[in-house]
Amino acid sequence: MSNITVWFIKSAMVYFVLAMFVGISMTVAGPLYPYKPIHTHLNLLGWMSMMIYGVSYHILPRFSGEPLWSDRLATIHLWTANIGLIGMIAGWMAAEFGGGITVLHIFSLIEGLSVMFFVTNMFMTVKAAPAMKKPMSK
Ligand code: HEM
Ligand code: HEM
Repeated sequence: MSNITVWFIKSAMVYFVLAMFVGISMTVAGPLYPYKPIHTHLNLLGWMSMMIYGVSYHILPRFSGEPLWSDRLATIHLWTANIGLIGMIAGWMAAEFGGGITVLHIFSLIEGLSVMFFVTNMFMTVKAAPAMKKPMSK
C-alpha cells in the first residue's frame, strides 16, 4: 500500500471515532448547531470520503492498468483534505461562538480545492482497460 492510501485510511479511522463521540453527545444534547454539521462532515468528508480516497488511490490505477497520474498531487490532496476539514470544524465553532464565518469560508474553499485535486488525478489516471484477448469461459 502507498503512504497516501495508508494515511487516508488512518485519517478516516480517526475522524470516524471523533464523529461517533459527537454523535453520541447529540443523542443527549440534541442536534444542536454547530455540533450537527461537525458530526455530519466528520462522517461524510472525514470517515467516508477519506476511506474512499484511500481505497481509490490503491485500486483505481490497478483496475485501469496505469500508474497514478501524479503522486505529488495526491500528497497535496492528502494535506488539503485534512487541513480543510479540521479548519471547517474550527470554522463552525468560530461561527457559533462569535468569530464570524470567515474561517469556515476559507477552509471550505481549501476542502473544495482538495476535492478538485482528487477528481483531476482520477480523471487523468482512469482509462478503459485493454480488451481481454480470450473470452471468459462459462
Ligand atoms: C455512533 C455512530 C453515530 C451516532 C451516535 C450518531 C448520532 C446522530 C445524532 C444524534 C444525530 C442528530 C439526529 C437528529 O436530528 O435528531 C445525527 C445526525 C446525523 N448523522 Fe449521525 N450518528 C452516528 C453515525 C453516523 C454516520 C456513520 C453517518 C454517515 C456516514 C452519520 C450521518 C449523520 C447525518 C448526515 C446527520 C444529519 C441528518 C440531518 O440533517 O438531520 N451519522 N447523528
Ligand atoms: C467542500 C466540501 C463541503 C463543504 C464546504 C460543505 C459545507 C456545508 C455547509 C456550510 C453546510 C450547512 C451546515 C449548517 O450550517 O447547518 C452543509 C450541510 C450539509 N452537508 Fe456539506 N459540505 C461539503 C461536503 C459535503 C459532502 C461530501 C457531503 C456528503 C457526502 C455533505 C453533506 C452535507 C449534509 C447532509 C448537510 C446537511 C446536514 C447538516 O446540517 O449537517 N457535505 N455542508
